[in-house]
Amino acid sequence: MLSLKQIHPAPGRDVSAADAYARPDGVARHVCVNMVSSVDGAATIEGRVGALTGPADQELLGILRSLSDVLLVGAATVRAEGYGPVVTMPELAERRRTAGQEPAPRLAMLTRALDLDLASRAFTAAVARPVLITTERAAPERLAAARAVADVVIAGEESVDLRTALDVLADRGLPRILSEGGPRVLAQLFSDDLVDELCLAISPVVVSGAGQRIMSGPALPQPVPMRLAAAFEEDGFLFTRYLRSPRE
Ligand SMILES: NC(=O)c1ccc[n+]([C@@H]2O[C@H](COP(=O)([O-])OP(=O)(O)OC[C@H]3O[C@@H](n4cnc5c(N)ncnc54)[C@H](OP(=O)(O)O)[C@@H]3O)[C@@H](O)[C@H]2O)c1
Repeated sequence: MLSLKQIHPAPGRDVSAADAYARPDGVARHVCVNMVSSVDGAATIEGRVGALTGPADQELLGILRSLSDVLLVGAATVRAEGYGPVVTMPELAERRRTAGQEPAPRLAMLTRALDLDLASRAFTAAVARPVLITTERAAPERLAAARAVADVVIAGEESVDLRTALDVLADRGLPRILSEGGPRVLAQLFSDDLVDELCLAISPVVVSGAGQRIMSGPALPQPVPMRLAAAFEEDGFLFTRYLRSPRE
């Protein structure tokens, strides 16, 4: 299991990543976002996460997934990254059982167009039935095809209302939500002040270019205050955990 060198708040101590990133118990809903960025702030290289990630970052992603009830992902990320079935790390299967969670986290995809490869392994090999969250405007024939392989949630007229979508997931017994972006989804989550925790990995590369930042959307009316809860280093990556400052 991954071991991380803790540099904040107490330096020099190796900690278990699964313990350091444990999801809170007993909350009605908790939204954690996990993203990786280059040192100069790029979230993509040629349209993919690609060379930004590395073994420790990937293992931490596996741990974060294994601790969560559901992954909330924008359809463009699913298309760009070619999602497969979401699995639980064997080392964390018992922890899930003890916590009363399903054997693997669900994959919940946000989409207006329902333009997803329904024959891909993300659907056909899923351990837990995926969820497609879409709008009243979705094309009926695409909705019918989607319902054959996934649970479909309608949560908005022209756009999915993210607060409604998160409430539906929590009401279905999936309160520990991990969003893996992408930047357009993350911008909406912050715009609606729905993020409780941001796990940002800084990859030890600079890339320049026109790649997206981790958030892509209009400027927020005011900065959302975050508090650095922890920072770790492994493989040259800086792994940070920011918590939303208490809301008034
Ligand atoms: N660095 C990182 O950590 C990281 C993480 C994730 C992704 N990425 C990268 O980010 C890029 C994709 O991100 P992105 O920002 O372009 O797209 P995205 O946020 O992944 O997905 C946007 C899509 O999600 C659907 N969607 C989003 N909000 C919606 C709403 N309110 N209602 C209904 N549908 C909604 C729409 O899908 P439809 O088009 O199907 O209608 C929209 O086109 C990829 O290059 C990926 O590699 C990087």
